[in-house]
Amino acid sequence: MARDIAALVKQLSLEEKTRLCGGEDFWHLRTVERLGIPQVMVSDGPHGLRKQKDTPDHLGHNDSIKAVCFPAACATASSFDKDLLFSMGEKLGEECQAENVSVLLGPAINIKRSPLCGRNFEYISEDPYLAGKSAAALIKGIQSKNVGTSLKHFAANNQEFFRTTVDTIVDERTLREIYLTGFEIAVKEAQPWTVMCSYNRINGLHASENPWLLTQVLRDEWGFEGFVVSDWYAVNDRVAGLKAGLDLEMPYSGGHNDKALLEAVKNGTLAESVLDTAVTRILTKVFAYVDNHKPAQFDRDKDHEQTAAVEKESAVLLKNEAQALPLQKEQRIAFIGAFAEKPRFQGGGSSHINAHKVTSALAAAKAQGIPVQYAYGFSATEDKEDPAALEYAVKVAQEAEAAVIFAGLPDIIESEGYDRETMRLPACQNTLISAVAAVQPNTIVVLHNGSPVEMPWINQVRSVLELYLGGQALGEATLSLLFGQTNPSGKLAETFPLRLEDTPSYGNFPGNGRSVQYTEGIFVGYRYYDYRKMPVLFPFGHGLSYTTFSYSNLKLDKSALKDTETLTVTVDITNTGKRAGKEIVQLYLEDKTGAALRPIRELKGFEKLSLTPGETKTATFTLDKRSFAWYHTGLGDWYAASGAYDIVIGASSRDLRLRAAVQLTATVPPPFRVDWNTTMDALLKDPRTKEKALKDISERYFNMNADLQGITALGAAAIWLERGYLESPLRNLYMTRGVPYEDVARLIDEFNALLEN
Ligand code: BGC
Repeated sequence: MARDIAALVKQLSLEEKTRLCGGEDFWHLRTVERLGIPQVMVSDGPHGLRKQKDTPDHLGHNDSIKAVCFPAACATASSFDKDLLFSMGEKLGEECQAENVSVLLGPAINIKRSPLCGRNFEYISEDPYLAGKSAAALIKGIQSKNVGTSLKHFAANNQEFFRTTVDTIVDERTLREIYLTGFEIAVKEAQPWTVMCSYNRINGLHASENPWLLTQVLRDEWGFEGFVVSDWYAVNDRVAGLKAGLDLEMPYSGGHNDKALLEAVKNGTLAESVLDTAVTRILTKVFAYVDNHKPAQFDRDKDHEQTAAVEKESAVLLKNEAQALPLQKEQRIAFIGAFAEKPRFQGGGSSHINAHKVTSALAAAKAQGIPVQYAYGFSATEDKEDPAALEYAVKVAQEAEAAVIFAGLPDIIESEGYDRETMRLPACQNTLISAVAAVQPNTIVVLHNGSPVEMPWINQVRSVLELYLGGQALGEATLSLLFGQTNPSGKLAETFPLRLEDTPSYGNFPGNGRSVQYTEGIFVGYRYYDYRKMPVLFPFGHGLSYTTFSYSNLKLDKSALKDTETLTVTVDITNTGKRAGKEIVQLYLEDKTGAALRPIRELKGFEKLSLTPGETKTATFTLDKRSFAWYHTGLGDWYAASGAYDIVIGASSRDLRLRAAVQLTATVPPPFRVDWNTTMDALLKDPRTKEKALKDISERYFNMNADLQGITALGAAAIWLERGYLESPLRNLYMTRGVPYEDVARLIDEFNALLEN
C-alpha cells in the first residue's frame, strides 16, 4: 500500500518540519523517530561510491570505503552508448543498495564551456543534447534499482575559479539552449529523484534562491517531481531559498538556518504551506528508498570487470596512420612513461573513489604474457625533466618495433576546486614524445586526461589513443584496445582545439573572481569553431576504428512537415572493413531559414551500431519541433521558423556524409506587433503582413507595381534595398514621403488587426 505522506506531514510539529529541511550531518538526512521517519544516507558519485564512514569532507581528501571506480564521465560520454550507460547505472544502483545509500550524488552535467574547467573530467560534453541523453540513460539505470540520483550542478556552473560565489552573466537564450537543455532532457526523460543546485549566482541571484530556476523552469515548465538539494554549503539565505524551491539544505551547517526557517514561519514571512510542500517532497523520496530497499551484494571483483567493459566502449582512437594500431603480439614493443605503471584513472575532488584495485597496462601485459620493454621516461605526478630517464626511453624506443608512450595530466593539474591554466601536457612529456618519435617512426601515444590537451607532436606520431580517465580496470581495457581484441568505438564528446587562444571563452574565462561574462553566447564548442570556420585538432564527434564504414540510403519519411508533426530519418551503415566494429552515427540539423542567428549545425540525434564485416544496419532517428527550434525570448518559448532545413548525417561534426533537405511550417507564428519603428524588412518577412505591405505601401506610396502573386518577399526586399528604404521605419512615411500622419497611424492599426486574427 502506498504511504500516506500527506497524513504524515500533518502529524509533524513545526519544528520537526523545519529540521527535516536540513541535513543531520555531512551525509545523512534527519529522522523523526516518534513517527517512524528513518534516517537515510546520500553519497558521492557519480562514477562510483564514495561512502565515507569516518571524517567526512566534500573534496575527497579523506578516505571512503573501498569501492569500484568506473570511468569518469569524460570517458563514458565518448561511448555515445545509452544502453552501456544504463547498465553502468544499474551496477551503481546495486552498489548503493548494498551499502544502504539512498541517493548517489550525480550525474554532473555542466557544459564544458572551456577546456580549462578543472571539473570537466566529471562533466559530459560541450553539447547539451549529448549531455542530456547520456545523463538520462545513467539516471534510469541507477533509479531502476530504487536508488535516487542527484542531477547536478543546476546551473551555469562551468568553472571552479570562485565557484562558490561567482556571478555568471548569461542571456536567457544562451541559458536555455546551451546550459539548461541537458538538465531539461534528463529531467523530462528520467525524473531524477533530486536535482542539486549549484553554488554560483546567475545574473546576480544565487542558484540556491532563484525561483525562476528552481520552480518556474524546473517544476512548472519541465515537470520535475523530486526534491531540490543544495550543493554542499551552497545556501546563502535559507528562507529565500525555501521560498524559491530549495527543499533540502545539505549538509548540516550549524543550526542557524533551521532557526531562521522556524522564525520565518512564526513571524509570517514564510507560509507554512511552503514548508509542508518541501517536507512532502523530501519524505516522498526517503520512503521511495526505504520502502523498496533491497539488500544486494557488492561484488567488487565482478564490478571491476564491468568497468573494463565500459572503458573499452569509451576510448577514442584519434589518429591511426599506417595501421600502427592494433599492435601485434609478435612485435618488439616498448611501453614508455610512468602512466603505463601508474595510470591516471580518475580525477580529484568529491568524485574521488577509493578503488579496491587498479590495473595498469604494464601489469595487464605481464598477466597476459605479452613481453614489453618498459622505460619510465617521466614522472606521472610532476613536470620535471629527467635526462637519464629520457635517454633510456629513447634507447628502448629505438630498439623496439613500436613505442607506446603513456602520457597524460598529473592529478595536481586537473581537479575539482581549481581550473587548469593551460591546455598543455607537462613539458617533460612533450619533450619525450618528440624525442622518441624522432628515432621511432612507429610511435603511439596513449592519453590519460580529463579534458583536451594540445599536441605539438601530432604530426610526428602515427597513432593517438585517448583513454580519458578510464576507471580502475584501465590496464586491461588499454591492452585489449591496443592489441585489437577490442575495436575502438568511442567518439569525442568535445572538440580538441588547436590552442587555448582559439577557444570560444578565451578572454572571458574564468572572469575576475566576482563575475564571468558568457559573451560567446550560444557559440560554445563546435558551434563556435564551425561558425568561424576554424581549424581544430580533432572535431566534436570524431573517432576512428580498426574497420571502415560506409553511409548510404538517407531517407526522410516526408519532404515537408508542420511543426506539430514528427520526421523519421533513416540511413544505412555498412561495415566495409575486415573486422567487427561499432559506428556512432550522428545527425545534425542545419537551419537555412535565416530567421535567427544560429549555429551552422547542431547535434539532434545519435545511434551506435554494432556491425560485423560486410553487414549493413539502419539507423533511425525521430525529429520533432524541438529538434528544429531555437529559444525565442520574445515568445518565451521554443520556436522553429517556417522554411528550409538540412538534415545532415555525419561520422563526426566535420565528416559529413549525407544530406537531405526538408521544409518546415510553423503553426505558431512568432510574436510581432507593428509600430512606428517597424521596418519594411520586417513587414515583408512575415507572411501575415507581406501582401498588405506590398499593396498598401509599395504600390500606393512608391509606385512599385508589384505583381502580388509572383513576387517573393526576397524579391520585394531586393527592390526596397535598392531604393534604400528597406531599413527605414514606418514613421519615415510621413517624415520623408509626405504621407499624412493619420494615414500611417491607421496603417499601423490595420497591420496589427491582421496579426491578431
Ligand atoms: C560538490 C558536489 C558534491 C558535494 C558533496 C561539493 O563540493 O560540488 O558535486 O556532491 O560537494 O561531496
